[in-house]
Amino acid sequence: MKKKMTIMDFKKFKEEGKKFSYVTAYDYTIASIVNESECEVILVGDSLGMIMLGYSGTTPVTMDDMVHHIRPVVKGAPQTFIIGDMPFGSYNVSKEQAIMNGNRLIKETGCDCIKLEGGVEMAETIAAMVKAGIPVMGHIGLTPQTATSLGGFRVQGGTPESAAQLIEDAKALEKAGCFSLVLECVPKGVAKSLTEAVKIPVLGIGAGPYVDCQVLVTQDLLGMYGEFKPKFVKLFKNIRKEMVEGLNEFHKETLEGTFPSNEYSFNAKVEGYELDTLYGGGTSK
Ligand code: KIV
Repeated sequence: MKKKMTIMDFKKFKEEGKKFSYVTAYDYTIASIVNESECEVILVGDSLGMIMLGYSGTTPVTMDDMVHHIRPVVKGAPQTFIIGDMPFGSYNVSKEQAIMNGNRLIKETGCDCIKLEGGVEMAETIAAMVKAGIPVMGHIGLTPQTATSLGGFRVQGGTPESAAQLIEDAKALEKAGCFSLVLECVPKGVAKSLTEAVKIPVLGIGAGPYVDCQVLVTQDLLGMYGEFKPKFVKLFKNIRKEMVEGLNEFHKETLEGTFPSNEYSFNAKVEGYELDTLYGGGTSK
């Protein structure tokens, strides 16, 4: 069985050039499946707004939503490092607000760290949170919570100026005390320079191969979510298709009456019971 990664391991893995992988989970069952896999890290992302709650973006997600979803993930994945995402509006009012909500996520869910979006402009808040004892993972590049201000869901760092700004953002996050950072939707050359410019691991999603860790949304890589597929997502399995096929087989056999056969029905004298009804009056021998 895999050993749970620690915050110290993030830095150590970078120093040793050891890669690792990081996926999302928002419920007990998927968390327990990831826990059984070799993937080292789970993010309970605010992407749950789209994937679990059916919203068109992440901004409506609340602290209560996050607490509700992180708790079962922590229960389901004891050997996996778990990140709790700070939702929009939970850390942009003041340092005090950010510390209070960071404390809440860790205290009420048992997750191992929090993640929040933003670069240089968030550095002071992050430094205050780290000083208060909250482990913080940064998130720069395409930041979905503020995507509208970035011109929509598009690749970031495509000009020399914006690439240089991203590298400044990464250095500011490192200086503020982030132990790692997510870099989303950035050209691979820019991601390479940025990864080389900091000592903390860079966890890339849509950032090419030269980062320290690859991140994907589990429901995307397993083909569970539906038709939406960003360019950077590889479909490693198509579980949705298999799920629909399974449901259709159940439906068909129900209509035909071939399910449940004897194998799936309680007969007399099974499992120590005299009567056909296991629930509702069956007499134990
Ligand atoms: O919420 C999320 O799933 C994320 C990933 C895209 C990194 O922030």
